[in-house]
Amino acid sequence: MTGCTPAEQQAALLQDAGTYLAGGGLGLFQLPADLNLVVARGEGSRVWDVAGREYIDYHLSSGPALLGHAHPEVIAAVQAQLPKGSTYFFLNEPEIQLARKIVDAVPCADEVLYTGSGTEATFYALRIARARTRRDKVMKFEGAWHGMHDYGLWGTVPSTPSDYPRSKPDSVGVPAMAGELVLVSPFNDSAKAVEMIERHAKELAAVIIEPLQRVLLPEPGFLQAVREVTKKHGIMLIFDEIVTGFRIAWGGAQEKYGVVPDMACYGKAVSGGFALAAIAGSTDAMQVLDVRKRNRAEVVWATNTLNGNPVCAAAGVAALDVLAEPGVYDRLHAIGSRLRKGIEDAGAKHGIAVQCPGEDAVFGVRFTARKPLRNWMDLTTSDKDLGYRWACEMIRRGILVNPNEKIYISVVHSDADIATTLSAVDEAFASLKK
Ligand SMILES: Cc1ncc(COP(=O)(O)O)c(C=O)c1O
Repeated sequence: MTGCTPAEQQAALLQDAGTYLAGGGLGLFQLPADLNLVVARGEGSRVWDVAGREYIDYHLSSGPALLGHAHPEVIAAVQAQLPKGSTYFFLNEPEIQLARKIVDAVPCADEVLYTGSGTEATFYALRIARARTRRDKVMKFEGAWHGMHDYGLWGTVPSTPSDYPRSKPDSVGVPAMAGELVLVSPFNDSAKAVEMIERHAKELAAVIIEPLQRVLLPEPGFLQAVREVTKKHGIMLIFDEIVTGFRIAWGGAQEKYGVVPDMACYGKAVSGGFALAAIAGSTDAMQVLDVRKRNRAEVVWATNTLNGNPVCAAAGVAALDVLAEPGVYDRLHAIGSRLRKGIEDAGAKHGIAVQCPGEDAVFGVRFTARKPLRNWMDLTTSDKDLGYRWACEMIRRGILVNPNEKIYISVVHSDADIATTLSAVDEAFASLKK
């Protein structure tokens, strides 16, 4: 597009996106036309759009860019691998190295199975659990996000409480029959969860849980109660650590909250922003994948062409090496906690009821006075319209956030980034008050 200004170029690209991409974008969220953007590049804590605008990025690709964009060590690892080929569908050194690092870091892990996405990871983890236990039903918690497969999309974003253990499908196209196999319980209600698990123990293969459910902290004792009752009945406990893994601590939620599941799903940060995810599990849980010890009819099928490919695995090895450096998690927590407190203080100053629930490395900005925020229904008290308008005001000021979603912190956000962001927060709140 010669002769166009950068702004005209971006407008033309957005028009093409509207024509050629299904739904005109990425799916579930849309920005207003005057703020919509096409990312041209990212570096560190920043991204630039095609029109030339710079943003401090707290979306971070919805989490994967934990090291910031284009981290030099990840680039170097990928560049070293690329001339050797990008995929073989045979064993390769980076995938073995990465598996070893994951096993070293993750309390529940003896072995690793690679998948291509978080959705595939939770989908296969449930299949592994069914094969291991020879039972069919699974349980999840209301408001938990486990990806886009037919067993995950029940009771994820209901506007009224579910008729526990039944819930409604989140997407059209999810077969009603899948709902027969998925029980839903409210998060942080130990008594209800234990009672439901006990009642369905003989048919339950797995309980899958986001230990930090979106932005909701587990209350003391909740994860422990679920661990205890699942163990008692031989039900596989699966932690979905796709957000929390390598982010809220080196050993993820298992380390942070001190509860060890049978399997855990990893994605996002585990591969430095490249398309790879994984299930890490105990030898006992993963035995159903072992073609060396079982005949084919007894083995779980969970193989995909590009899984564990050497480019993504090399990126993952480099990313985990950076995260293993001393002080990384302290810095992540310090930066995140400053931002959370700053947003809440600005809300108090402007008389806006706003809270930042979650962990320092990943949290929400929720416009509600309800305290404490314990479960999905508590979160529905948040004013989503205000959340959307706040996000727009932030984007207008060069701070990239996903409306009503999470704020992700990277290891390269600086004190100066936080100061700039907090001054935008102050202006955005002032503008909302008008
Ligand atoms: C907790 C959790 N589990 C699973 C998924 C699905 O991962 P993916 O988008 O890679 O399929 C997500 C995605 O955001 C997630 O947040």
